[in-house]
Amino acid sequence: MDFTLTEEHLMIREAARDFAQNVLKPGVIQRDTDQSHPTEFVKQMGDLGFMGLMTAEHYGGAAMDTLSYAIAIEELSKIDNSCSVIMSAHNSLALWGIEKFGEDALKQEYLPKLTTGEMIGAFCLSEPEAGSDATSQRTTAEDKGDYYLLNGTKNWITNGKKAGAYVVIAQTNPELKHKGINAFLVDATWEGVSTGVKEDKLGIRSSDTSSVMFQDVKVPKGHRLGPEGFGFKYAMKTLDGGRIGIGAQALGMAEGAYELALKYSDERRAFGKAINNHQAIAFKLADMAMEIEAARMLVYRAAWLKDTGRDYAQAAAMAKLFASEVAMKTTVEAVQVHGGYGYVKEYHVERLMRDAKITQIYEGTSEIQRLVISRNIIKGETYIPMK
Ligand code: CAA
Repeated sequence: MDFTLTEEHLMIREAARDFAQNVLKPGVIQRDTDQSHPTEFVKQMGDLGFMGLMTAEHYGGAAMDTLSYAIAIEELSKIDNSCSVIMSAHNSLALWGIEKFGEDALKQEYLPKLTTGEMIGAFCLSEPEAGSDATSQRTTAEDKGDYYLLNGTKNWITNGKKAGAYVVIAQTNPELKHKGINAFLVDATWEGVSTGVKEDKLGIRSSDTSSVMFQDVKVPKGHRLGPEGFGFKYAMKTLDGGRIGIGAQALGMAEGAYELALKYSDERRAFGKAINNHQAIAFKLADMAMEIEAARMLVYRAAWLKDTGRDYAQAAAMAKLFASEVAMKTTVEAVQVHGGYGYVKEYHVERLMRDAKITQIYEGTSEIQRLVISRNIIKGETYIPMK
């Protein structure tokens, strides 16, 4: 077994690290305070190839693998989790499925704009009454012959107000339950599409989260993604990849908080020595380092399984679940290491702690990940250690 990263992986790590540390970091506290959208940085992420990181070159993408994507998300997340979630939702919840399941004409029209970051993508699955229970879609897409008539409201949509293209999951044939669900690419400029207010969130505050409403929106047949009735599976497959991105995000924020705690504990002195020379702090650092390493293994392995064409649903759920718990624990401990300084914005760790909580909630709560993992174990289908 060889854990060495390739030249390409090291290059993307360097590029993302440089961008995060030198471009994103200077204004990150202010953006978090004002909840201002990092629009100019999204454009720069487009120039760097981050907005089409896994998409084919002929659509303007960087055609990199999932591990490169995870590494880039990890680096951004040490600093700015609003930018990292914008990038993560855009790449894995919007572009991935459009490229994999969309018709050629649709891909030609939308992907070149999405890969440059000129247009942002969003994924609309959750509803006011269908969050974890994703089969209970109330949004309807009535088949009218030439088009589908879309009606309904989606909640908690990352990139909700800024997106130009929405991937929308809706029920076409309620009698067929989840087999009657479809996925569509809906253009934000179409008549009947509107958005709610930007949510005032605990963390990832400069990213844009809102409701998206669809009222009598005419969706051409060519905008359906995948065959008729494939929408629920489309959503589940999309989330499998999305969970690798959120795992990488959680990993990055844990690392960011750990690095800050390490530096602070080396500089801060108490009882005549640097506080990292006291076991109370040193042992915290040891636990953080070990747990981050374990989270990294799970996240990178899930990415590797996807890149090598193996089943990754189970591995992605494990990576997301474990890394998000490590992110929460590590950021809380990093605040503790900083004492009072950890409780003020200037030191960055309180923001990472607030940001970390969302990784246990979005793209499936921790409870949903346990459900996915336990069902697979019981079925005995996908979990064979190290296969
Ligand atoms: N890949 C392919 N197919 C899958 C699948 C997967 N990963 N998971 C399930 N399916 C298929 C099943 O095989 C089954 O197919 P058949 O009927 O042909 O046998 C079908 O889908 C139904 O599966 P289940 O019976 O398992 O469905 P369920 O309703 O019992 O449970 C669930 C599914 C795991 C709970 C699922 O609903 C789920 O993941 N829920 C969480 C949704 C979620 O993550 N929401 C947040 C999303 S987006 C977000 O956070 C916003 C953002 O912008 C960041």
